Amino acid sequence: MDRNLAMEVVRVTEMAAIASARLMGRGTKNESDHAAVEAMRRGFDHLNIDGTVVIGEGERDEAPMLYIGERVGRQATDSPPVDIAVDPLEGTNLCAYGRPGAISVVAIAPRGCLLNAPDTYMDKIAVGPYAKGVVDLALSPTQNLRRVAEKAGRYVEDLTVVVLDRPRHEKLIAEIRKAGARIRLIEDGDVAAAVAATIENSGVDMLMGTGGAPEGVIAAAAVRAVGGDFLGRLVPRSRAEAERAQAMGIKDLQKVYTAEELARGAVMFAATGVTTGDLLKGVRFVKGGAETHSVVMRSETGTVRFIESHHKFDKKPHYAI
Ligand code: FBP
Repeated sequence: MDRNLAMEVVRVTEMAAIASARLMGRGTKNESDHAAVEAMRRGFDHLNIDGTVVIGEGERDEAPMLYIGERVGRQATDSPPVDIAVDPLEGTNLCAYGRPGAISVVAIAPRGCLLNAPDTYMDKIAVGPYAKGVVDLALSPTQNLRRVAEKAGRYVEDLTVVVLDRPRHEKLIAEIRKAGARIRLIEDGDVAAAVAATIENSGVDMLMGTGGAPEGVIAAAAVRAVGGDFLGRLVPRSRAEAERAQAMGIKDLQKVYTAEELARGAVMFAATGVTTGDLLKGVRFVKGGAETHSVVMRSETGTVRFIESHHKFDKKPHYAI
C-alpha cells in the first residue's frame, strides 16, 4: 500500500473529529456521531482507494452511511482494494458530555485482512512492545500483571491498568487492586485506551476487560503497528449474537485472536483526538480555525507519527460552519 495513504487518511479522521468536537457537551450523542459520520464519509471521497467498510456504523438497513459493505474511496483503476474499519466517533457519550478520551479513528488493511467482527463483546488484553509475548487470556489478571512486571523490569505496583468502568468488571477490578497495580477507570473508549497502553510514556501500561469486538479489531491494527500485544476472545451476549457471529464465518467462539489474526497484512491506523485523553489532545477551536492532534501508524515500518495540525477555516471552507 502507498505509504502516502497514511498521511491522507489522517485528513479523514481530522475532519470527523472537528465536526463532532463542535457538538461537544450538548448531551446529544447521536447528533455528534452523525456529524462525525458525515464528515468522514465526505473525507473518504478524496482518498485513492477502492475501499470496503468491514467495520462501520452497522448493517446497511440500520446505518445510512459507512455501513458494513459500503464501498468508499475514489475507486479508480489504480486504487488499491482495501478493507476499512471505522469508528467516526469512538466514545459518543464522552463527546456528548465533554468527557476525556473521545477519538475519531480509521484502520485500513489489504482486502480480506481485517476480521469481520460481529457486533458483540470481546475480552481484551493489550500491552506495549516491552511486554510482548507474556500476556495470555487463559491466565488470571494477577498472573498477567506479574508476568508483565517481570518482563518490563517494573513493580506490579507501578503498572497502570485501564479498565472500562462497568459492573461486569467488578471482579476484575477487585483482583487488580489485590495484586497491587494502579487502575485507571474509563467511562468509554477502549480503542484509545488500548493504543495508549502500547505507547511508552502515555501514563497507562495495559488494557484489560471486556468491550466491543469491532473496537477490538481497530485497536489490534494499531497495536500491530506499534509492535505490542493484543489478544481478544469474542463474548456473545446472547444466543442471537452467537448465531450472528457464526453466520459471519466465526467457527470457534472460544478462539483467542492475536493482533495478527484480527488485522493482517500491511495495516495503517489513524486517529484524531476529539476530547483530550491519554492518547491524544482533543480539538481546540482558535481564532479563524482549529487545532487537531492525531496519530498515524503503519505496520510495515512501525513508524508512529504524532501530528499537530492547524486548520484555517477561510482556506478550508468545509471546516467552517
Ligand atoms: P460508542 O462510541 O459506540 O459509544 O462505544 C464506546 C465504547 O466504550 C467502546 O470503546 C467500548 O468497546 C464499548 O463502548 C463498550 O461497550 P459497553 O458500553 O456496552 O460496555
